[in-house]
Amino acid sequence: MNYHIVTYGCQMNLHESEKIAGILREQGYERESALEEADIIVFNTCCIRENAENHAFGNIGALKKLKRAKKNLLIAVGGCMAQEEGKAAILREKFPFIDIIFGTHNVYELGALIERKRKQRKAIVSLLEDRRETEDNISPVRTSFPNAWVNIMYGCNNFCSYCIVPYVRGRERSRRAEDVLREVRELVAAGYREVTLLGQNVNSYQDGEMKFPALLDAVASIEGKFRVRFMTSHPKDFSPELVAVMKKHENICKQLHLPAQSGSDRILSLMNRRYTRKAYLEEIALLKREIPDCEVTTDLIVGFPTETDEEFEETLSLVTEADFSSAFTFIYSPRTGTRAAAMEGRISEAVQKERIMRLVERVNENTRKKSEACVGKRVEILCEDFDEKKGMYLGRDMNGRMGYFKCEKDRVGDFVMLEITEANGISLYGREV
Ligand code: SAH
Ligand code: SF4
Ligand code: F3S
Repeated sequence: MNYHIVTYGCQMNLHESEKIAGILREQGYERESALEEADIIVFNTCCIRENAENHAFGNIGALKKLKRAKKNLLIAVGGCMAQEEGKAAILREKFPFIDIIFGTHNVYELGALIERKRKQRKAIVSLLEDRRETEDNISPVRTSFPNAWVNIMYGCNNFCSYCIVPYVRGRERSRRAEDVLREVRELVAAGYREVTLLGQNVNSYQDGEMKFPALLDAVASIEGKFRVRFMTSHPKDFSPELVAVMKKHENICKQLHLPAQSGSDRILSLMNRRYTRKAYLEEIALLKREIPDCEVTTDLIVGFPTETDEEFEETLSLVTEADFSSAFTFIYSPRTGTRAAAMEGRISEAVQKERIMRLVERVNENTRKKSEACVGKRVEILCEDFDEKKGMYLGRDMNGRMGYFKCEKDRVGDFVMLEITEANGISLYGREV
């Protein structure tokens, strides 16, 4: 029997899909296949912005035909959108052919739900309000060798006014450090060469006395040649201790993803971000003073309710001042139930579009400038894949840039030293030395 998983959203969800694959294997679905050949299709959804939901709605709708042609096909929908208040009912109504709807708190239960569904006709909707437990006994089917994702915490307590995550992922809870360390040790022993520690706000990790810098220190101290990445860091919880640990370990990637969201203090306050532009820039200054080759990437939102032209200009100037090596840029999308969704002063679509175009241009300019400075230099990449179209191997360097190179042999999983000959956007091209 075959399975097919469609994943939307963040790394958290990508990793959760690896866990879902682990559950499906246990249920006797042996192979991942194309959608048309699958005996079970699982949608792992995201609801961070409206377009993420629209994509999912469109693609779930398209399954109707398949379901009609294939009587035993099971369709399950889980993830953040399924967990969103009222969405399960809408999914049921729009797509009565869905067999199982499950939430973010009971992924571990999917196997049992599948078994139950095989014995009954009626669709199953199973959602939990919240779950404090941080361990499960699922062995994920990892799909990103030589990289591996490791959750260190779940949920979020920050309630940034625009964000739905705290509502669909529940309250923040940290895994026990010993569980995290055991998982990383096993991964390194199994040949993984990079681990990415995952959490919505890793800087607020806490297991008893142990905070994030200490956990990172312990992870990076595990024996073996491997790299450590982590995301996401919230500027309000950034600390000199974190910088010290990053500096101490050669195997911690010199890249920090530090979402700024906006360059305007008034907008930051409306967003409930709890830091100022000045404080943000001071953090970056400290980071660059201690680790001059560290790169900073970010997330930025344009068109938040009441954002003026001048305030938007402050986001533009932040790109240059903070010297981001790249940024994810988003148009504000109102999410039902969040505080910002009830705010007045929505920005028109035309203005939002104009702002995002200008922002993307500014970000690209900076990215280009910084990548071009890499030409002629040597960088070590961890080869992670082969790009069929380009006919080249690729992998990321310590600063998070993608490096491409040609080679006859399969190099996935190898550390490769490249001399950079060309730069294009965030991508570098080079030859092995
Ligand atoms: N926990 C992480 C990010 C989670 S969501 C953090 O706090 O940094 C990833 C990004 O999506 C956010 O950083 C934000 O830039 C964007 N985002 C979240 N909600 C959004 C919304 N309603 N509209 C537009 N962008 C949003
Ligand atoms: Fe959302 Fe803010 Fe939590 Fe990030 S920190 S997940 S943006 S509420
Ligand atoms: Fe989306 Fe949920 Fe991640 S809303 S961004 S999949 S936490």
